[in-house]
Amino acid sequence: MENLKKYILAIESSCDDTSAAVLCNTKVLSNVVATQEIHKEYGGVVPELASRAHQQNIVPVVHQALAKANIDKKQLSAIAFTRGPGLMGSLLVGTSFAKSLALGLDIPLIEVNHMEAHILAHFIEDKDQTSPRFPFLAMTISGGHTQIVKVTDYFTMEVLGQTLDDAVGEAFDKSAKLMGLPYPGGPLIDKYARLGNPDTFTFPKPKVDGLNFSFSGLKTSILYFLQRETQKNPDFVSENMNDICASVQFTILEILMEKLQLAVDQTGIRQIAIGGGVAANSGIRGRLKDAEEKLGWQTFIPKFEYCTDNAAMIGIVGYLKFERGVFTDQSIAAKARYAIGS
Ligand code: KG4
Ligand code: ZN
Repeated sequence: MENLKKYILAIESSCDDTSAAVLCNTKVLSNVVATQEIHKEYGGVVPELASRAHQQNIVPVVHQALAKANIDKKQLSAIAFTRGPGLMGSLLVGTSFAKSLALGLDIPLIEVNHMEAHILAHFIEDKDQTSPRFPFLAMTISGGHTQIVKVTDYFTMEVLGQTLDDAVGEAFDKSAKLMGLPYPGGPLIDKYARLGNPDTFTFPKPKVDGLNFSFSGLKTSILYFLQRETQKNPDFVSENMNDICASVQFTILEILMEKLQLAVDQTGIRQIAIGGGVAANSGIRGRLKDAEEKLGWQTFIPKFEYCTDNAAMIGIVGYLKFERGVFTDQSIAAKARYAIGS
């Protein structure tokens, strides 16, 4: 009888996290993430340093993932890896490693689109969580992405809108930097915002048609606002930290929620699945809960470790592709720009 248990080793290296996971079908046996601390000193991800750190991390991270899962390389059914989108130097490390390992073990190779993986992370088996039913709307919000996608089936997705400039996580991080907060500032804005009044200061919302986003104007308006106020009072930021954070966060959340509402109006779909690091934000979680109660939406947020960049989400796509017999060959190349559905 055919063995119904498929063991997938997944590798993610698109940005600044080196990650490896082992899945048995839809279940995660291990999910190891080495976050590169080096970028903190620079206030953002430095591509060259990221690539070098991936090279150092990849072997130990894969070893650890196999050891934690208690799986031997010989038991693996396939290797899944992130082909793109992402930083080319970073993607190359994971891609080359996955290709050589699959070749050495003589098992199938599966390429994965990182943005599809953020969405399909909702199908990782988890006793505490239910998966959305098709069709649903997915909003991926992180330091690298801001996208609303209509998901009709596992591999039938349509991007309805995305950011034209900065990602929403960047809007958080860059605003935090202007306030003198360390990188990444998103979680700190969240923390201070809880203690502040969101109505204290008003920032303009961008005028972008349809379901696209823009966050660069917000950053500029915060910059001018802080310059103006600190000229009058050099201690303005420290004296008003909570209220500034609450007001900035409120503006960002208004932008996200307005676009989500528009997507719901346009599609008639009220199941909303959120992913990406910004899904950790307590404000957005509160707003989604409100929408469930007031608007009848059904919302889904995966466990935090499956929201931020991780290999488990690559593994679930690997499994779904394995089931469909969708494999790739050794001629595959990493793709820095890789749109969903392309
Ligand atoms: O998914 P992620 O770990 O990495 C990528 O960018 O792909 O997301 C990191 C982003 C950062 O911009 C960080 O500031 C933001 O997620 N973030 C938050 C919160 N936690 C993480 N932003 C707002 N509130 C949070 N609680
Ligand atoms: Zn990501």
